[in-house]
Amino acid sequence: MQENLKSKKGLFSMGKVYVFDHPLIQHKLTYIRKKETGTKEFRELVDEIATLMAFEATRDLPLDEIEIETPVAKTKAKVLSGKKLGIVPILRAGMGMVDGILKLIPAAKVGHVGLYRDPETLKPVEYYVKFPSDIEDRDFIVVDPMLATGGSAVEAINSLKKRGAKHIIFMCLIAAPEGLKALEEAHPDVDIYIAALDERLNEKGYIIPGLGDAGDRLFGTK
Ligand code: URA
Repeated sequence: MQENLKSKKGLFSMGKVYVFDHPLIQHKLTYIRKKETGTKEFRELVDEIATLMAFEATRDLPLDEIEIETPVAKTKAKVLSGKKLGIVPILRAGMGMVDGILKLIPAAKVGHVGLYRDPETLKPVEYYVKFPSDIEDRDFIVVDPMLATGGSAVEAINSLKKRGAKHIIFMCLIAAPEGLKALEEAHPDVDIYIAALDERLNEKGYIIPGLGDAGDRLFGTK
């Protein structure tokens, strides 16, 4: 990770890691961190943050110019060029970010990838993968609220790449420095969008200060 912070596109960029410093995102993030925040509010806030992050992350989508007629004049106006997009949540917590992104890009296809950690090798292993069939023609946004060790994100992106995906970005709410480093090293071509970079991982793999287990908090499980 590069140390020099530079401003790009209204975000803070650390090399190819973009930190969303928008006040609305930061405010909502504070509330999902709070331990008192219940499942309903947590879910709603994750959804809202995902929408706000998608707004920024799609800033460079290509546009075409078309001729239109308003009630009073002919004019040229811009429309999305029709780039095909795909969203890939890492199961299960990534599911909490999908609807928020679909609000802005409702035609995006949604793939899924599920991974578990092998108890012996401690490496992530795929247990479920389903991607759109036109994978080579799509740009993908891989989502997971937490980037902890980075193992799942690295493997999910491996899964997409080995099936032909060429352009991928990764979006999460909170990252640990360890996870960012691992993801940048494994996939230097993947831009990473985060809302916060926290201090560290603890001995159990939780991000500190973090927000606890994002999946449990989203789905009300323990
Ligand atoms: N996954 C979570 O949900 N929380 C963490 O802190 C780390 C990984």
